[in-house]
Amino acid sequence: MVKRVSILGSTGSIGRNALDVVASLGDEVEVVGLAARHNAELLVRQARAFRVAAVGVSDERQARVLEPLAAEGVEVFAGDGAAANVATTPTADLVLVAVAGFAGLAPTLAALNAGKDVALANKESLVAGGKLVREAQRAAGARIFPVDSEHAALAQCLEMCRPDAVRRLIITASGGPFLEKSREEVADATPEQAVAHPVWDMGAKISVDSATLMNKGLEVIEAYWLFDMPWDRIDVLIHPQSVVHSLVEMADGSFVAQLATADMRLPIQYALTYPERRAALFPTAALELATIGRLEFARPDPAQFPCFGLALAAGRAGGLKPAVMNAADEVAVEKFLAGEIPFGALPEVIEATLADAPDGDAAGYDDVARADRWARRRAEEVAAAVASRA
Ligand SMILES: NC(=O)c1ccc[n+]([C@@H]2O[C@H](COP(=O)([O-])OP(=O)(O)OC[C@H]3O[C@@H](n4cnc5c(N)ncnc54)[C@H](OP(=O)(O)O)[C@@H]3O)[C@@H](O)[C@H]2O)c1
Repeated sequence: MVKRVSILGSTGSIGRNALDVVASLGDEVEVVGLAARHNAELLVRQARAFRVAAVGVSDERQARVLEPLAAEGVEVFAGDGAAANVATTPTADLVLVAVAGFAGLAPTLAALNAGKDVALANKESLVAGGKLVREAQRAAGARIFPVDSEHAALAQCLEMCRPDAVRRLIITASGGPFLEKSREEVADATPEQAVAHPVWDMGAKISVDSATLMNKGLEVIEAYWLFDMPWDRIDVLIHPQSVVHSLVEMADGSFVAQLATADMRLPIQYALTYPERRAALFPTAALELATIGRLEFARPDPAQFPCFGLALAAGRAGGLKPAVMNAADEVAVEKFLAGEIPFGALPEVIEATLADAPDGDAAGYDDVARADRWARRRAEEVAAAVASRA
C-alpha cells in the first residue's frame, strides 16, 4: 500500500534528505504536502518534482512565489498557520515534522489532533510541549516515529526488549567540534567553527546546539517524553565515532545497541517505511567496523558543557521551564550566528533568562506559547546587554 506523507520543513537539512529517501523508495511513498518558512523558490521546485497536492509557506511575504502553483491546482497556504494546514491535508497518512525550533509544536499538535501518525525530527516540540504532544497522541491513538537518530536507535532497541526488563536508556553524543577544547579555548569560537560538526551535516541551529551539548540536553528531555522513562534512568555517553546511536541497558546488565553509518537518511527511511526495513538505495557508506577499529565512550564533563546541565535542570524542573530554556537557546544561537554575541555567552543568555522565568504549568498550547514569547523577549534583552559589553 502506498504511504502518503506530508513533509514540514522540506527545504531544510532533514526535509531535503527525506525527499532523497522518498525518491529512492519509488512508488512506496507518495508526498502529498510540503511546507517551509521562506525558501519559496525551492518549495516550488520540490512541489513540482513530487507533484504534491498542498504547499504552505509561513512567511506571508513569500506567498506570491507560490501563486503559479495555485494556478496549477495545488492548494496553497501562507502565513502563521500554513504548516499546520499542510499537516492536516486529508490525504496524508503520516506527517514528517522537520521544521526547526518551537515553530514545530503547533503543526505537530495539528497533525496528531487530525489523527495522523507523525515522524518527528523536531525535538523542540517535545522539549517545550512534551506533555501536550503525548496527550494529543494518546487522544488520537496516533503513533510517533522518532527521526532523531538517537531516539530512532532507542525505539529500535526497545523493539527487542520487554518493557519490564529495561533498566536504563543511554543516549550517545559525538561531543561536537569542541570536544577536545576547554571552555576558555572556545569562548570566542566563530559560527563557522561551531557549525563544522565532525560527523553530521545538519542545519545551523542544531549544529551550534551540538557544539554546546545543549542538543544532548534537549534529547534527554525528548527521550523522557517519547519513552516515559524517569529522569534518573536516562544517561548520556560521549562517543566520538557516532557509530553506536544509542543503547538500552536491561535488568540483567546486558545491553542492546543500534549501530549504523551516521547518515540521517537511515532513520528517516525507517520512519517512512515502518515496520518494513528496506535496502538503503541512496548512496551511503556501508558500516565497516573493522575499518573504524575502535569505539570509545566517556562521560560528558558538565564544567566543559554548561548548556547541557542547564537543559537537564530545566527538564527536571518541568512546567514551563523547558519551554523557556528552549526559547532562550533559540534566541542565543540566532544572536551568535548573527555575530552579535560570542560563543562563550550562550550559557549566560540561557541561564539569565531561566533565572527570571515565571513558574506555571504547561497546561495548554497557549501557556507554552506565552512562555515561549516571554522567554524570547527576555533572552533578547540579556543578549543585548551581553553585546553592549563587548
Ligand atoms: N539536521 C539533522 O541532521 C537533524 C538531526 C536530528 C534532528 N534534527 C531536528 O530536525 C529539525 C530540523 O532540523 P534541520 O537541521 O533540518 O533544520 P534546517 O536545515 O534549519 O531546516 C529547517 C526547516 O524548517 C523550516 N521552518 C522553519 N521555521 C518554520 C516555520 N515557522 N514554518 C514552516 N517551516 C519552518 C525551514 O524553512 P526555510 O528553509 O524556508 O527557512 C526549513 O525547511 C530540528 O528540530 C532539528 O533539531 C535535525
